[in-house]
Amino acid sequence: MSALERNILVTSALPYANGSIHIGHLVEYIQTDIWVRFQRLIGNTVTYVCGDDAHGTPIMLKAQQAGVTPEAWISRYHTEHKADFAKFSVEFDNYYTTHSELNRELVERIYARVKAAGLITAKEIEQLFDPKANIFLPDRFVKGTCPSCKAPDQYGDSCEICGKTFDPSDLINPVSVISGATPILKKSRHLFLELEPCREMLLKLYEQGFVDDAVKNKLLDWFKEPLRSWDISRDAPFFGFAIPDEQDKFFYNWFDAPIGYLASLGNKLACDAIETEKFWNDDDLERWHFIGKDIQYFHALFWPVMLHAAGLKVPTKLAIHGFLTVNGKKMSKRDGTFITAATFAKHLDPQYLRYYYATKLGPSPEDLDLSPDDLAARINGELVNKLANLVSRCAPMLSRLLEGKLGISAMDAIPILREIRGAADEIHAAYDSRNFAAATRLICTLADKANKYVEDQAPWKLVKEDAEAARGVLTAALEAGRILTIYLKPILPEFAFKVEKCLAIPPQKWRNIQDAVEPHTINAFEHLVQRLEKKAINAMIDDSKEGVPPAPVTAPSIENQKSKMGGGENPYPDGEPLTAQINIDQFLAVDLRVARVLTAEAVAKSDKLLKLTLDVGHLGQRTILAGIQKAYVPSDRLVNRLVVFCANLAPRTMGKFGTSEGMICAAGPGGTEIFVLSPDSGAKPGQRIH
Ligand code: 2FM
Ligand code: ZN
Repeated sequence: MSALERNILVTSALPYANGSIHIGHLVEYIQTDIWVRFQRLIGNTVTYVCGDDAHGTPIMLKAQQAGVTPEAWISRYHTEHKADFAKFSVEFDNYYTTHSELNRELVERIYARVKAAGLITAKEIEQLFDPKANIFLPDRFVKGTCPSCKAPDQYGDSCEICGKTFDPSDLINPVSVISGATPILKKSRHLFLELEPCREMLLKLYEQGFVDDAVKNKLLDWFKEPLRSWDISRDAPFFGFAIPDEQDKFFYNWFDAPIGYLASLGNKLACDAIETEKFWNDDDLERWHFIGKDIQYFHALFWPVMLHAAGLKVPTKLAIHGFLTVNGKKMSKRDGTFITAATFAKHLDPQYLRYYYATKLGPSPEDLDLSPDDLAARINGELVNKLANLVSRCAPMLSRLLEGKLGISAMDAIPILREIRGAADEIHAAYDSRNFAAATRLICTLADKANKYVEDQAPWKLVKEDAEAARGVLTAALEAGRILTIYLKPILPEFAFKVEKCLAIPPQKWRNIQDAVEPHTINAFEHLVQRLEKKAINAMIDDSKEGVPPAPVTAPSIENQKSKMGGGENPYPDGEPLTAQINIDQFLAVDLRVARVLTAEAVAKSDKLLKLTLDVGHLGQRTILAGIQKAYVPSDRLVNRLVVFCANLAPRTMGKFGTSEGMICAAGPGGTEIFVLSPDSGAKPGQRIH
């Protein structure tokens, strides 16, 4: 490595192994991946690691709800996350997990040293406890009335209506989200990381470019008062690492999550914990964390203190970004704007999102907005019509008119090529400072000029009078296309790969900007990027809307049969065929419950639907629209009956009739022959059917 070359470890925040990656997450991973690709393009050495954040109460409870072990639950997300990132060309050197032996070893080593440094203290505290589920309740697992504005149904940490933050014990009429029980206050001994002794270290760190100046002032606000110690322990039951020398105490997942950065690095290098720490502490290594502004507290306060106290180097830099809004609003399942990575990739080319985010991303943690109209305008107006246009127009033209042979760039193209090459330093600086919006703006301006050059020279006409002059024009245009592609390569690796293949040139680096292509024959042109069709965006939004039933995949479900079968016709006279086999996890993912029918009434203007109110025990009441009217006349025959009910089916809007919050299970071919299933007497509403 030369003296000027940088050696950089880069991380993106570890996503929770508890849900799918969505377009909000992708802001960060795409931003980081672009920066990493740029650093490599200019010749720096980068190790980019990430992994799943696999511990914590929510993960434990979700796994329990699904009836699987937490290990099975996190493993499912590990596979899914890796596949989703690959779709968007987010290329980690390693994608690991915090639930690993190497992470446990690192956590125990770091904790032991932080403790030896005197920064761990123990205190008895009172917390809300669910006496029914026998578990201490994290803030988000308590709901109640806001103590300030009295809005009902607010989480234990803050009110969505008035914005006030509070302690869960301040909530009025609190209830446990887990069991519906009223929580009690219970004492427990907890371990704390003391931050105040590290005040000077932190302040000095902030003076050294640890964060951009705009963020620094925000961080300094925290120092107006003594720094509060941080609770790093959780009581059993908990899915995580046990704290050594403690009884039934676990590390809070935010303690082991950032250590997961080191674990992913060590796993990549096939190192043990000691060697991993040595690599991390290398004097020449820069340590960069890309994070969202919501978790800067953890990364700017707790994490440097943990590292410093353990004798490890603190991070070099936090690169902090803002949140994504869609059409100026928070992503919403109801509006279909809560779009998962998989759904986006199903409908649209993932390159669109990489390009779009690049045009929006600057160095500051400002929020960025995605609007479908703007997305279509950017992709069609810039990516397709300007950036891809040069190569996609000129390469096939050269092949068609001049046997695909590149010559020497036309003399009259010298100024424009000089201008394009001359922008290298400015674009370099923009990328390096994470100002991708500025980089793309500049690249687009250069592309406009290159396209205009081709338009003015009209090589398709020129070729009829002077073939060699036309070859010179097309060579210059493709030279411009090559250089612009180097500029775009961090954002659009797939696009760049196709251009390199078409132009029959080796993988380009930043230093190749100043080269001139030698005369040679190019390859057949392959499409670089398609126009974005508005209807594909609409289909993606529809697909993301909660409440719209997905199209049936195999045999129609009983609900589909029921709605199709107003006339009582049996679609399977020879018996219904078996659907595709499922595994135990898929079976357990369906949450069947016992429910008691409280009311049953015909739905106005429908000859099929009954509206049922169900009592589902501790899960409360649900309203169901079931296509069983013909079989249950009079409908009050159902009242008071116990029924089998699928409780975790997403609510579905059934046109003008309203929303159905689940589905009751029934057998039979349909029409008048539908038999609602009842569990044996003795079962109680709310009980799960296994
Ligand atoms: O906020 C989150 O999604 C966390 N899972 C991020 C963890 S980042 C790091 F500390 F591991
Ligand atoms: Zn409030």
